[in-house]
Amino acid sequence: MTTTVPPGRPTSTGQHFTPEPTAAFLWEQIRSVMPPVLPSGKRLRVVDPAAGEGALLRPLNGVQTDLAIGLEIDPVVAKRGRRVGVEVGDGLLDHQLRAASFDVAVANPPFGRASDLLTEDQWRQLGSRRGPSIWGEWSANSRRRFASRPLEQLFVERCLELVSVGGWLALILPDGLLANRRSQAARDWILQRARPAMIVALPSATFRRPGLHAMAHLVLLKRKTTDHGAPQGDPCWLVQRPSARLDLSSLMATISTDLQQARDGHKIEGISSIDPGRLRGSRWDAGYWQGQQQAHWWSPKIRDAPLGDFVEHLTYGPIVTGSKPTHVVDGIVSIRQGDFTGTGLRLTQALRVALHGDHDPQRSRVRCRDLLLPRSGAGALGRNRIGVYLLEEEANIGCFVDRIRLAGINPFYVWLFLRTQPGWGQIKAAFNGVGTPNINFEEIRSLRIPQLSPERQDHVEAAYKQRILPLHVEERADATEQAVVEFSALIHELEQLLMGKRG
Ligand SMILES: C[S@@+](CC[C@H](N)C(=O)[O-])C[C@H]1O[C@@H](n2cnc3c(N)ncnc32)[C@H](O)[C@@H]1O
Repeated sequence: MTTTVPPGRPTSTGQHFTPEPTAAFLWEQIRSVMPPVLPSGKRLRVVDPAAGEGALLRPLNGVQTDLAIGLEIDPVVAKRGRRVGVEVGDGLLDHQLRAASFDVAVANPPFGRASDLLTEDQWRQLGSRRGPSIWGEWSANSRRRFASRPLEQLFVERCLELVSVGGWLALILPDGLLANRRSQAARDWILQRARPAMIVALPSATFRRPGLHAMAHLVLLKRKTTDHGAPQGDPCWLVQRPSARLDLSSLMATISTDLQQARDGHKIEGISSIDPGRLRGSRWDAGYWQGQQQAHWWSPKIRDAPLGDFVEHLTYGPIVTGSKPTHVVDGIVSIRQGDFTGTGLRLTQALRVALHGDHDPQRSRVRCRDLLLPRSGAGALGRNRIGVYLLEEEANIGCFVDRIRLAGINPFYVWLFLRTQPGWGQIKAAFNGVGTPNINFEEIRSLRIPQLSPERQDHVEAAYKQRILPLHVEERADATEQAVVEFSALIHELEQLLMGKRG
């Protein structure tokens, strides 16, 4: 195949992918949904439009192909993949790859802003397009409108174009495409044209190099018969990102065995299935759905309401550019993420900032019984560190903490509920899918809180104050440990109550 390689900036954006275990898993999944030889007697035609050295084309073992072709824009890289069918070419624009002429498309496309990855010449060629695309309508000023769009979306569109109806796509896509709100239109666009059959959160070790830690999912999609209508038929399997600290090969092997067992009807932690139609207008990432499934877990006899119904005031800590808070001995306490423990706030080492200074705006002053929530960070929000402020003396919050002032609901009950499986599941579901976890005001307001009677809510508060709080001031060496045990027991009792297993 002869191709023209656009001149310009290098486009080799290999994300330091450790390909073998993932590629082997990818092909195993394709084999599980496709016969090795097609009903027509023909063998598979496979394409990878962003092939690199052909990592995804290589482990075709066991799968019979009539054609396996990869296009790679960087000639040096392409040369290294020649043996497995990689040629130099532009996988997005090459006219010799004909539409609907492949049975399978595999891709680990470049991730990132189009303006950073496309050359002048590519923009020019793309700019001559007209009509609908995953990014919207192409028109004369598309370059400006689409500059910040993620390029990987255009590769998904291209793969959909290259695969014939009934064929399969196995794509490695960044978490953002599956989870970010601004990618919703792209997800819905894909859903109109393909049915997701499997969405696997790849282990965090999949892409790694100093300074870069891309998180991605492997998505298996079947090209649909029509361009419209809800996806129907088989469920879509969702696999959560494993937390075990195993090497990548062992992790992928475990996912593979677990998936098989789940398909055989066994209940496997971290794996669930969903009707693909439910993905419309929603996130696709596996963690989100697991959180959702956990979330509606309490007894149907208990009504629930959004937390927003009880929020009197919700605000964030002061963001002061160019000035770090400094300790002022007789200043006001500024509650920061480090002050949250697994069992509540510990303010013995708290920072104090200048009263009425930049780090003490009136707006974010904290009062007794305010619910405080670190709004980001793997070590704080990611560990569900929440707390209720208990002192009479006013305080303030640091820049990564949100203050939630509630009315009509007991803040201790809300806190402890958010620590239960259905509460934590909802927070996890709300996490922004990419990078550091964070939760926004709208997501906080939409958390569903089961409505226990006021007496029961007060009982939860009393139990916390009786059983856990005294341990915070005890000097015994094991007091902290005991507080954790008591706290877990209290959460467990609340979970039992919510499930209707305790009177
Ligand atoms: C993330 S790497 C993946 C390579 C390989 N598929 C793998 O999994 O190891 C993406 C590759 O796409 C290539 N690429 C970027 N734009 C391209 C285009 N328009 N056509 C073909 N290849 C492209 C990059 O040079 C890079 O080698």
